[in-house]
Amino acid sequence: MSGSIELKDGVHWVGAIDWNVREFHGYSTSRGTTYNAYLIRGDKTALVDTVKAEFFPEMISKIESLIDPAEIDYLVVNHVEMDHSGALPLLMERTPRAQIVATDNGVKGLTRHYRKDWPSLKVRTGNEISLGGKTLQFLEAYMLHWPDSMFTYVKEDRVLLPNDGFGQHYASYQRFDDEIDHLEIVMEEAAKYFANILMPLAPLIPPLLKKVEKMGLQIDMIAPSHGIIWRSHLGKIIQAYTDWSTGVVQDRALIIYDSMWGSTEAMARAIAQGMSRAGLENKLIHLRKNHYSDIVKEILTAKVLVIGSPTLNEGVFPSVAHLLSYLKGLHPLKKKGVAFGSYGWSGEAIKVVEAEMKAMGIEILEPGLEVVYVPGEEELQQCMDLGERIAAGL
Ligand code: FEO
Repeated sequence: MSGSIELKDGVHWVGAIDWNVREFHGYSTSRGTTYNAYLIRGDKTALVDTVKAEFFPEMISKIESLIDPAEIDYLVVNHVEMDHSGALPLLMERTPRAQIVATDNGVKGLTRHYRKDWPSLKVRTGNEISLGGKTLQFLEAYMLHWPDSMFTYVKEDRVLLPNDGFGQHYASYQRFDDEIDHLEIVMEEAAKYFANILMPLAPLIPPLLKKVEKMGLQIDMIAPSHGIIWRSHLGKIIQAYTDWSTGVVQDRALIIYDSMWGSTEAMARAIAQGMSRAGLENKLIHLRKNHYSDIVKEILTAKVLVIGSPTLNEGVFPSVAHLLSYLKGLHPLKKKGVAFGSYGWSGEAIKVVEAEMKAMGIEILEPGLEVVYVPGEEELQQCMDLGERIAAGL
């Protein structure tokens, strides 16, 4: 169990590392995660966010290494989701004078989750709490990513605590971006986090970043509630959030498919070959060999999605249906696409895939390409030609 870590004088990380979580409400977390809680000490003391309930012992021991938990005056709840508020019921028993600080939706959400009437202070954007020597300022972040979400800013230390924002599911001994040898892995996890959690809410992010600018918040450090704390690569993560939230995509194609007996797969490979010949970077993604939460991370920055499905029981293959349903809820931005697939006798899948892609705002480049049973040489050539046409049209 690692100890508390000082971010700035009087600002400490007192969270927990979850090395073993591999699944987070359906999202695969192959690198684990952390639940970051922050203790801020002026004349008074505040704890910003807590941890998942089972990690309460880790958090409380870190707090106890710094102060008596009974001295905590404020428990700031930036977000009600239980990976951050789960330890509150246990903590409330150890903090008799503490008052919850949250948005109006936050207080309502906590009441619905824990059925307790805890003493609470509701805050709005711009409200401040002085701890004596430290000032906490609040910024509502409605729907980023729950109605209760808010950011807390420690004025004197220029530290922004944006909860899930800028976070990554990444367990590590290190706490800061400049301590990490392979920052690209952290960026990859930040992209996966954005794609799976924030993508459907992306249009709300640029106005919020503008609001931060308008409020004149000078930021030296961004300390999210998952993963690594940003202090040396702030520009990199802020630029990434700006790009991801405005749909900046690269000239890259993903050929995402499943296959019953190899025909749709043969089509996928031929499409990829055509794209490669025409110089378009592309990746083949078999739906039963990749987790859908990893696939949407790839989708975040790709311009072209070519989605293939065999027809099964007059519909799409189950893995394709799963992806389409998940992706529809994420509202991907600025994508172009084509459907393809093989069928035996009815051939509904291609039409369903195309309709679903249209429904989620993907620009359909041309009608879907379908093959009966096994593609012959001529049909594989058509697939290659499709790949070349997609590449040429970008
Ligand atoms: Fe990390 Fe929305 O909870």
